[in-house]
Amino acid sequence: MARLVRSIYVKEFRGIRRLRGEVELRSFNVVIGRNNVGKSALLEALYLLPSPWPAQGDPLLGKPRTQLVAELHSGFTSSLVYGYSGVAMIRYALGSTDDVILLGADGVVGSVIAGEEVESPDAYVKRLASILGIGTEEVPRLTFLIPSSGRFIKALSDVLLSSHVWSSIVKSGVHRRVVRNLIDPVVHDLFTEVLIEGSRLRLRKEVSEDIGPLYIDTADLGDGVERLCLAALALEYLRPRLVLWDDIEASAHPGLIEAVLRWLASRDWQVVISTHSLDVLFELLSIWPRDSGVIVLRKGRDDVVEHRVLELEDLEKMLSSGIDVRKVVDELEL
Ligand SMILES: Nc1ncnc2c1ncn2[C@@H]1O[C@H](COP(=O)(O)OP(=O)(O)OP(=O)(O)O)[C@@H](O)[C@H]1O
Ligand SMILES: [Mg+2]
Repeated sequence: MARLVRSIYVKEFRGIRRLRGEVELRSFNVVIGRNNVGKSALLEALYLLPSPWPAQGDPLLGKPRTQLVAELHSGFTSSLVYGYSGVAMIRYALGSTDDVILLGADGVVGSVIAGEEVESPDAYVKRLASILGIGTEEVPRLTFLIPSSGRFIKALSDVLLSSHVWSSIVKSGVHRRVVRNLIDPVVHDLFTEVLIEGSRLRLRKEVSEDIGPLYIDTADLGDGVERLCLAALALEYLRPRLVLWDDIEASAHPGLIEAVLRWLASRDWQVVISTHSLDVLFELLSIWPRDSGVIVLRKGRDDVVEHRVLELEDLEKMLSSGIDVRKVVDELEL
């Protein structure tokens, strides 16, 4: 699995006043820590990498990334800045030695790439593309975030219905592959494909010969399968270099968690997921993705966030001796 971001540093972004030290990222990362510690904020900061500028929105959802992140919370882009005023700073270390820095306050105030100030949104994308050795058209697809929000899932379903997205999904066979490889193994129903039926996104469900196929609206699926289906379609369509999946266990049975983690670990993209679930940690150990680690976050009363990367060997020792790693974060040496 390829690493797009080697490390990230965040200051004055959402609830993180600052990180104590850069967070090093592996190819496959699982973020854990108490509620409010900044897990979502960290994933959101990573999501902004392709462009924080309003002029360049998310390639699938069409809106500026800062707006999409704000809409997951209060809706105001000013809420992206710690204490609602000042300047937020996110620094990414990318594959090469170059750093990308972006500064935002009530939107974007500027960015610095490899020590040079970048003046326009276009220049930002060009510089990023040249650092990464990719075409500028690939930049918007670098990162994609699956938040744990019902509204987001609904928006995703509307976007997937648009004709240019859907025709590309059908052309590449993703509408069948996602169902066959990800959904069928985790449910008793037999689904065969996702399709557009009466301007709705539906799954074809084979019942029995006397009844014939049913077409079930994705919104009528169980929450876990609905989220998996739409997220997997979006990720297969976009093929981002960095997949960010917040609260991956939301509405997921352990069987579904196993299928998602296996699928994520089998692809050539970097993965950062967050979780509160022991099931995710146990499945992580059973899959043992190459170059993986568990990032433990802890926040003090001063909103400074500390972290430590646990090796899977450490996690295995803790879990096998009955220690709930989620509950001992306060005692861990960081
Ligand atoms: N603009 C802001 N200024 C100061 N604090 C903020 C700001 N925005 C969010 N916060 C704080 O950030 C915290 C929420 O952070 P975040 O959503 O990243 O937590 P989390 O670790 O994902 O939590 P959970 O496990 O519940 O999902 C809250 O304590 C909130 O008060
Ligand atoms: Mg969160």
